[in-house]
Amino acid sequence: MKTLVLTAHPDLSKSRINRAWYDALSDASNVTTRDLTTVGGAEMRFDIEVEQTMLLAHDRIVFQFPFYWYSAPPVMKAWMDQVLNYGFAYGPGGDRLKGRELLILVSTGGPEHSYHAGGYNNFSMAEFLKPFQQTAILAGMTYLRPFVAHGMAVATQEQIDENVPHMLAYLNDPELDPKVRQARLLKQLEDDPSLAAAVS
Ligand SMILES: Cc1cc2nc3c(=O)[nH]c(=O)nc-3n(C[C@H](O)[C@H](O)[C@H](O)COP(=O)(O)O)c2cc1C
Repeated sequence: MKTLVLTAHPDLSKSRINRAWYDALSDASNVTTRDLTTVGGAEMRFDIEVEQTMLLAHDRIVFQFPFYWYSAPPVMKAWMDQVLNYGFAYGPGGDRLKGRELLILVSTGGPEHSYHAGGYNNFSMAEFLKPFQQTAILAGMTYLRPFVAHGMAVATQEQIDENVPHMLAYLNDPELDPKVRQARLLKQLEDDPSLAAAVS
């Protein structure tokens, strides 16, 4: 499983959690990190062929960003608008990403309890992230359960250090796709029918 992490932070040198994630992921095996702000420059212009070739060389694509105004920073959107184009990601012949996985890796300033009905952000992260989910569906990708780090605007260094190994373990889990996990569980039940009694 090869993972491509597309990092969309406007200034990683001023970041805490996204910088820590980026550094740890850059050292991880089978992971390619790409700082979109550096690659795209001030104009946020991407070489479409380079970006698409990069996507095709990986199985799991990660969009990594800090949550800004209930969405991603503009460089993420600029990359999407230029790279996920007609005939590649959608439309006739646009099935090149089919079967790959998309995972959102996001940090928020607001605490977890604010992202609920009745909380001060009113909606859940699953609701806010729906445009990414539908992008994955349109492109024939499997949308994985996002990894969200809440309360990161005021996180202590200890909380950041603790978060990093959790994030790495999450991203490296080959069974994030529920179909894969379910297939293994079913196989386990087949191999050992006595387990069926425990789950029925
Ligand atoms: C322009 C801007 C918009 C933000 N919008 C939100 C938001 O909508 N919801 C939220 O929870 N935090 C918001 N924040 C807080 C950031 O998500 C938080 O500071 C970030 O995740 C910390 O990551 P970093 O240390 O990598 O920069 C915003 C911050 C900025 C600068």
